[in-house]
Amino acid sequence: MNMIENSMFEEEPDVLDLAKETPAYPLDPDDMVYEPRSSRLLVRGLGENDMDEEEEDYESSARLLGMSFMNRSSSLRPSASPYARQEQSSSCTMPSNRTLLLGVFVLVVVASVAMVIYFLPKCTLTKEGCHTVNTSMELIYPRATNGELFPWTSLRLPVYVQPVHYDLLIHPNLTTMTFQGTVSITIDVLNDTKNVILHSSGLQITNVTVQDKEVKKLEYQPWQQIALKFPEDLKKGQTYVLTMEYSANLSNSYSGFYNSSYVDKGGNKRVLAATQFEPLAARKAFPCFDEPALKATFLIKIKRETGYISLSNMPKVLLTVLNAVLDEFEKSVRMSTYLVAFIVANFTQINQIASDTLVSVYAVPDKVDQLDYALGCAVKLLKFYNTLFGIKFPLKKLDLVAIPDFLAGAMENWGLITFRERTLLVGNHSSLMDKQVVASVIAHELAHQWFGNLVTMKWWNDLWLNEGFATYMEYTSVEKVFPELEIGNDFLSMRFKSLAEDSLNSSRPISTEVATPEQVEEMFDSVSYEKGASTLLMLSSTLTEEKFYKGVSEYLEKYRNMNTDNEDLWNSFPQEEYNVVDMMNTWTLQKGFPLVTVNRTGAQVSVSQEHFLLKVNKTAKSSDLWHIPLTYVNDSCSTSPNCTQLFLLKDKTATFKVPKNVKWMKFNFRNNGFYIVNYGEEGWRALIEAVKENHEVLTPEDRASLINNLFALSRLGKLSFKQVMNLLVYLEHENHTAPLTEALYQLDRIYRLLDKRQDLLASSMKNYILNLFVDKMNSQSWEQDLPLSKQELRSALLEVACRYGQKNCTDRAEHVFLQWVASNGTERIPGDLMKVVFSVGAQSNAGWEMLLQTYTHSIVDADRRKMLAALASSQDVRKVLLQESLQGSYVKTQELPLILHTVCRNFAGHLYAWDFVKENWGKITQKFPIGSFAIQDIIMSTTSYFSTERLLWEVENFFRSRRDKSSKMRCVHEAMETIALNIQWMDSNLETLRKNL
Ligand code: BES
Ligand code: ZN
Repeated sequence: MNMIENSMFEEEPDVLDLAKETPAYPLDPDDMVYEPRSSRLLVRGLGENDMDEEEEDYESSARLLGMSFMNRSSSLRPSASPYARQEQSSSCTMPSNRTLLLGVFVLVVVASVAMVIYFLPKCTLTKEGCHTVNTSMELIYPRATNGELFPWTSLRLPVYVQPVHYDLLIHPNLTTMTFQGTVSITIDVLNDTKNVILHSSGLQITNVTVQDKEVKKLEYQPWQQIALKFPEDLKKGQTYVLTMEYSANLSNSYSGFYNSSYVDKGGNKRVLAATQFEPLAARKAFPCFDEPALKATFLIKIKRETGYISLSNMPKVLLTVLNAVLDEFEKSVRMSTYLVAFIVANFTQINQIASDTLVSVYAVPDKVDQLDYALGCAVKLLKFYNTLFGIKFPLKKLDLVAIPDFLAGAMENWGLITFRERTLLVGNHSSLMDKQVVASVIAHELAHQWFGNLVTMKWWNDLWLNEGFATYMEYTSVEKVFPELEIGNDFLSMRFKSLAEDSLNSSRPISTEVATPEQVEEMFDSVSYEKGASTLLMLSSTLTEEKFYKGVSEYLEKYRNMNTDNEDLWNSFPQEEYNVVDMMNTWTLQKGFPLVTVNRTGAQVSVSQEHFLLKVNKTAKSSDLWHIPLTYVNDSCSTSPNCTQLFLLKDKTATFKVPKNVKWMKFNFRNNGFYIVNYGEEGWRALIEAVKENHEVLTPEDRASLINNLFALSRLGKLSFKQVMNLLVYLEHENHTAPLTEALYQLDRIYRLLDKRQDLLASSMKNYILNLFVDKMNSQSWEQDLPLSKQELRSALLEVACRYGQKNCTDRAEHVFLQWVASNGTERIPGDLMKVVFSVGAQSNAGWEMLLQTYTHSIVDADRRKMLAALASSQDVRKVLLQESLQGSYVKTQELPLILHTVCRNFAGHLYAWDFVKENWGKITQKFPIGSFAIQDIIMSTTSYFSTERLLWEVENFFRSRRDKSSKMRCVHEAMETIALNIQWMDSNLETLRKNL
């Protein structure tokens, strides 16, 4: 406990320094940056110890939370604690179990230390130390499966063996759900060595030969590595071919080479097999050097039964019919293993040629008429990117395939992009909002064909180079190619969301060192995607789009087929006007973002920056600085990009001049920058007055930005909620989607917090919100199709209105629902209204049953998901389908995060959902890997509205006592920090709310 208390007074390690450190690849998968490596090594030599692990977690979460709740005395803990019970029962004079355990532990430690010292080479304890690495390395070599020493001690593969080419033959058996494979890997040896280390996981390797000679193989399962041991050195400068035969089961999860199935129109179950390798699952399908920088070419052959087709990254070149069919694909371009893909299924397709590439879109045969929209999008976007990047898509074909079971949204495998059905298929009646999803997912995955596939990050620490870029391109390309999809509002709210997540102490720098599989999985988070995209937007609006894309094209050209890191990207931009490297490092190598405070006296404007950090009990400290491209407009010219001025704030404080007669200034034009602005009392007063007088003096994005910043500052404790309410009065005149949905989102968030505590204030808050928005809610049409941003506004307003039980809304929704029921589900409901209508309908027994029926039979996946969300919104928790989804019976397991998300929305469901997660954690983590986006989502959606000490303790205790790696996940820290902040917010705001609502 002492260790924990001491750490209270330590400052957090400087994030910049941490991020800059050369990767010290830990020898233990459990290693975390919080602990010095050496002590960890020692512990490893002595064997792992659970108590130790728990202490470590306790400490790291304590740091993240600024220690506040760690100081609560243990008497505060509910007596249901398993520890408390144990202590009470041990009242006799015999030493307690715990003491006994402790005694044994101490003995083991002492004995082990003695043994280690005895076996250590003598030089270890001398001043000079040991000079031969090998001797001491032997001490830490792990044991292979057969008990021999495994000759490698790092999660990362050695650099002196490089794969050049893979010949891969795969034969899935869709009856036994197994597959067989043969892989021949050509390697270059850069240093003499007797060992080749590569990855393999869950494969039964039966035969290994090199140049026709049999070779010995060792396996170290925890790191998913195998070692091929040679009696004599493989020689530097030589090339060898390693051949391995193996077999395995098709996976029942969503990664590796996995099986999927669906029921066709005729009611028959059809099976298929597909791959999902990113980030670390290629090794589950064939032994390989499974790191992104170890690029090679691939020649893939697939054996299949007739009645199926097979697809892979490259075009098919040969088809041989023996007892089965053998498809052979062209040799690929040089690529990373995580981008390899193959599918065996009975899909149908439509296609079209776009700038010399044959673009095909595939789905199960019953859904072939839902493919047109996707094909059109893919063709347009491919042409767009070809021109924009100045590099043509290098393959002759590009397939886009909808897979019935698919966990991610989509996956960018080179030339063979895979999707969920929801993100590729569009029904005849689908709404613009449904189309927007399809267009943007295609835009994202196509962007990866350049960012990620052609140029790849060196290691997963820079995953954002893939995901941040693809996300940035997703929004910007859809904005240009499909203006009717009005994606701008979504990009803006994505940036707001990203700011909110990055304001926590548990956030991380965009570039973060990672080593373990769980840490790699966890990189697929909002920081890589959303903060990544937001910082790119900030850069492009600072440099101008033209210079930005020029740099981007040069980067792609310079590094095509190679691997890069952060610096390579920043160095590709002109450095004269701005030092892009220095500037962008402040955004990618340290977590968080700045709060800019503005003070104006006449012509003199002074600005200062500090870390915008939501603090639990104000203990966390940060002295970080950013290079902030501060943009601003003023009352004389405020809505056009030409009005903006730019000041680069690098220091803690700075001053500059503006004309004396300026009435007000708005900073961060269109919220294109990743920072929040506080205008001080006078500045806010002037701005709020101006907006109240005529809100059109600012762009809609700037109005939304003001609303967002006000709420953020009130969360930070810099402004009172009353000041927020003061601005919101203007909303009466507002009719633009961005500011209205932002205000609604923020207010509803507070309502939901209050509601989950069953606080009496919840109903006052509800009334306040309804009052502000009631006219807008009541004036929405329920029939016609609208332009997209109007649909977004309508569905947001009505979703809240009906969830709050506003009678106008529920009556109207029920009416539409009954008409739909009477028409036997054939009457058309505008796509953006379906969820609201179905959710009201699902509250009655008959409505729920009808929806379930329709859900089971409908083949339009976008509609089905809306029905599912409605089914899960039932107030009767017996009906919310959690078990069904976990079992994958008539609701697919991939939908579990969506269901949990919805269940947590209402009061009845949120505790039930948390109990469900606790009870089924084992099963859940079998389906969704620890660290994965799905798990992050499940944890955050079930816990982020908790706001009591009791629930905080429960969450903490639950994860602490897991035997898996879940307590180490960043999102667990994020969840606890969020709850602690909720508690704090309640403590300091309930009184103000009570007075003002
Ligand atoms: N590369 C990812 C797919 C992925 C995600 C692989 C997580 C491994 C782990 C893909 O490009 C992606 O980002 N997909 C998104 C959808 C996209 C439109 C934002 C997803 O799956 O959510
Ligand atoms: Zn992506």
